[in-house]
Amino acid sequence: MDKGIISSNIEKAVAILRNNDLVAIPTETVYGLAGNIYSEEAIRKIFEVKQRPLFNPLIVHIHSIDQLDKIAKIIPEKAKRLAQTFWPGSLTLVLEKSEVIPDVVTAGKSTVGIRMPNHPVTRELLSKLDFPLAAPSANPFNRISPTSAEHVEAYFSDTLQMVLQGGPCENGIESTIVGFEDDEPVLYRLGAISVEDIEKVVGKISVRNKKESAPDAPGMLAKHYAPRTKLYLTDSVDALLAKHKNKKIGVLSFSKEISQPSIKSNIVLSKEGDFKEAAARLYESLHLLDNEGLDIIIAERLPDTDLGKSINDRLERAAN
Ligand code: TXA
Ligand code: MG
Repeated sequence: MDKGIISSNIEKAVAILRNNDLVAIPTETVYGLAGNIYSEEAIRKIFEVKQRPLFNPLIVHIHSIDQLDKIAKIIPEKAKRLAQTFWPGSLTLVLEKSEVIPDVVTAGKSTVGIRMPNHPVTRELLSKLDFPLAAPSANPFNRISPTSAEHVEAYFSDTLQMVLQGGPCENGIESTIVGFEDDEPVLYRLGAISVEDIEKVVGKISVRNKKESAPDAPGMLAKHYAPRTKLYLTDSVDALLAKHKNKKIGVLSFSKEISQPSIKSNIVLSKEGDFKEAAARLYESLHLLDNEGLDIIIAERLPDTDLGKSINDRLERAAN
């Protein structure tokens, strides 16, 4: 049974995509707003629906590692190793693009972001298509990324025909983006795969995710992933609470419940202090707090290791 624009009908998604239209698709990171990479009409719609600036390139989602040769011109040795280790999964590789990739997809860049998502529903969908899917996260520009079909529907029920139901996203934050400079890997976006795990495969990697003037990954713009409610990020929730008396306050804490009369709502990301669980629940929690009519949200900074780094990165941008 279909409810609103949410549907589990993969054949219907295939038909819409073949018709140069868009379908929101589940991935293990966040939901994507997908269209045929070879259809200018579809790509134009992605930018329109998302209200995304045209300078911001899209990630190409593929079904099989064999497609890499057709899409990328040069595949450095370390890129191959990363793809073999993490695909299907939450890693995007930025590589020199081949001629088959339309300029509209890459916003005129000579490189293309490529990822093989690891979600059974979208893997089945991709296996039925003879083209890869360009897909940014399925949120309006500068809003919180969606980690459920219902989040997407709340954003786009008027502008989108279909969200393919895939349940809640297992990882819950976007893919880690790795590009190459002189064949050496550079990390452009912290994400669902930790720096530590990447380094186990390719050794020390430089992290360059804060270029504000000419960002290599514009997702790295300082303000991003933002709730509408003003959000503060802090090491000491207590100190900030003391500063904001007489306000309706929501608190997003890592592992401990924080109870104080002034707090209207407290969400704990992971009682066990587990980074993976915290990442999976991050955006869902921000969506919930953002819809509670609060004056401010106070978010607690996580320990700055492993996925804690990626989560802090998102919270910093949400706070900007
Ligand atoms: O997990 C994800 O990556 C999700 C799911 C749907 O796959 N997608 C996603 O797409 O987060 P988006 O468009 O919201 O973020 C992709 C980021 C953007 O910041 C974009 O600038 C960067 O990737 N990007 C894409 N192609 C690039 C390229 N050729 N060079 C540098 N950055 C690139
Ligand atoms: Mg995004």
